[in-house]
Amino acid sequence: MSDEFDGKIVLVTGAGSGIGQEAVRSFAERGALVYAADLNAKGLAATADLVASTGGTVRSAHLDVADETAVADLLARIATEAGRLDAAFNNAGITGSTHLLEDYPTEDFDRVLRVNLRSIFLAMKYELRLMKPAGSGTIVNTASVAALTGPGGMSAYAASKHGVHGLTRVAAMENASHNIRINALAPGWTETPMVAANSAQNPAFAELARKAIPAKRGAHPKEIAAAAVWLSSSQASYVFGQMIVVDGGMTIGGFEP
Ligand code: NAI
Repeated sequence: MSDEFDGKIVLVTGAGSGIGQEAVRSFAERGALVYAADLNAKGLAATADLVASTGGTVRSAHLDVADETAVADLLARIATEAGRLDAAFNNAGITGSTHLLEDYPTEDFDRVLRVNLRSIFLAMKYELRLMKPAGSGTIVNTASVAALTGPGGMSAYAASKHGVHGLTRVAAMENASHNIRINALAPGWTETPMVAANSAQNPAFAELARKAIPAKRGAHPKEIAAAAVWLSSSQASYVFGQMIVVDGGMTIGGFEP
């Protein structure tokens, strides 16, 4: 897969940190011109530095992925500058606060749905307008194991990620015959800044969570980014509308002997 992405135009959102940052690095290392989008300007600068040190090409886009005008403008910029979009990794997301459902602040619920689900709808809406006329493309949307499970206290997050799975399947169904492959990625516990912040808030829960993972460790963000890159590559040319779970066995079910 060394020069698989040579000259390809790739968009990664949530590119300023964690999984997205690793994905930008990996796509760039493989020869892609990567548009890196994030709300966090500092994170974007760090990603650009990281890529520059390995000789890749990245163009930063500072935006809120839930803002329709901003997303439309970014895709228009890509169309003008690059003329096409070969692969998109729609990955930005937030966890939101943790409360029992009956106590969940409605404004928090709306915010999580906005950032995690509306953003995926908007991204695909404008990405497809570029990919469809070109007759090819790949899209990977970041869901979560919370798209398959019901983590207590995380109603907004789980609802948003179940929604990402559903949107991905509809988009895949609508676009498979147009040579556009759309899949979702469901990471398990991944040791990114988002998880580190949650672990610092609740170390006992973090310890318990790691013990409950059959692999007995969280993922390195690189291990998740690798799956996104694979799904975007020709190696995955017959994978349509699937959600690939990369979770150290967290959702195997059952129990150890
Ligand atoms: P992270 O917090 O390290 O990175 C997320 C990035 O998204 C940040 O740079 C942040 O600034 C950006 N972002 C947040 N809201 C945004 C907005 N409105 N507009 C633009 N950018 C925005 O988190 P991580 O772990 O890399 O998460 C990436 C994706 O993976 C998220 O969708 C998350 O839900 C998902 N995920 C993460 C897991 C984990 O254990 N870390 C597990 C399962 C899923």
